[in-house]
Amino acid sequence: MRERFPGIGPDWARLDGPAGTQMVDTAIDAMAEFLRSGDNANGHGHFAASTASTELVDDARATVARLLGADAEGIVFGANMTTLTFAMTRVLARGWEPGDEIVGTRLDHDANVTPWQLAADDREAQLVLAPFDIETGRLDPEAVIDRIGPRTKWVTITGASNALGTMPDLAPVIEAAHAAGARVFVDGVHLVPHAPVDLDALGCDIFVTSPYKWYGPHSGVMWIAPDLRETLTPYKVRPASNAAPERFETGTVSFEAIAGIRAAAAFLLETGVGEIAAAEGARFEPLLRGLQAFPHVVVHGPNTVFDRTPTVSFTLTGHEPDAVAAHLADRRIAVWSGNYYAIETMAALGLQTGAVRAGVSGYTCEADVTRLLEAVGELAP
Ligand SMILES: Cc1ncc(COP(=O)(O)O)c(C=O)c1O
Repeated sequence: MRERFPGIGPDWARLDGPAGTQMVDTAIDAMAEFLRSGDNANGHGHFAASTASTELVDDARATVARLLGADAEGIVFGANMTTLTFAMTRVLARGWEPGDEIVGTRLDHDANVTPWQLAADDREAQLVLAPFDIETGRLDPEAVIDRIGPRTKWVTITGASNALGTMPDLAPVIEAAHAAGARVFVDGVHLVPHAPVDLDALGCDIFVTSPYKWYGPHSGVMWIAPDLRETLTPYKVRPASNAAPERFETGTVSFEAIAGIRAAAAFLLETGVGEIAAAEGARFEPLLRGLQAFPHVVVHGPNTVFDRTPTVSFTLTGHEPDAVAAHLADRRIAVWSGNYYAIETMAALGLQTGAVRAGVSGYTCEADVTRLLEAVGELAP
């Protein structure tokens, strides 16, 4: 698996996957091949290159749809999750009235909080955030369900926390929201690389994911449920297609990124996300246990390997997170420090300067984990 990632050399232990993974070889090649092929043209024209671009996009929608267990007609390509979410919340808010409510969570990345807050502010609606258990890092579905009321329009929830790795149980939340007449938006950015997703079975209304977290290029994908994709009124220019899903894609899409997304999705389908998750789990368990064994390390979030992604946040007694990350970088270990934009989560945990985050990806090897644990051990007070 490791040899499929040209960006992974012998020098660095790349534990920065939750912020973006290295690209798989076929996705890199697909982007370069598209740009070299002469097919680089806008879609829906009358010449061969344009037809090829149209076919690329159609096929990429179908491939990503297979990965997500969804239908291709709901797959929208965009710049990244944040941009797609800002655009969509603005569209959804067109139907909100003063006093309407949105329920979110404190486990979410800010890209799934602030777009809702600003859209709610525009309509004098309220965003209410459900708390998580700060001891375990777990989000009790009841904490969300309890906040759903007759004025709730949308429930927005993370599929997996990019800070703590927690994977909330989405099914009861979706069921309760729908029973109350509310819709559900799921941030799948940190979920898709680490767990098989079946949107047909999940039953949410909108789902977002970012291919650059799953070995593809910097880009975003949104899936929209059939009734919404037809009935919502997106902000769009007049000559652009009124047909879904194109009506949600403002301006010209990045065809080269879509070539890369298709290849990355095909890689996940061929390899199996379940298989990747199992390999990650074998690396993650010693990493988590090793961190927990240090008396000077505090692991934040779940202390078990179950119902979580292979991502862990930790702090070291007597050392600021940024200083720890710099020390690790000196030893050629790439991790992130700070809040990783999960500002509600970090505030709930009382971590003013954040934490250090290490994430296992499909290409992580045993030596990466050993190197991290040895370097953390060097910082014992
Ligand atoms: C859980 C989660 N949601 C949303 C985002 C934002 O994604 P994007 O960079 O595609 O806007 C991130 C990025 O780190 C994330 O980890």
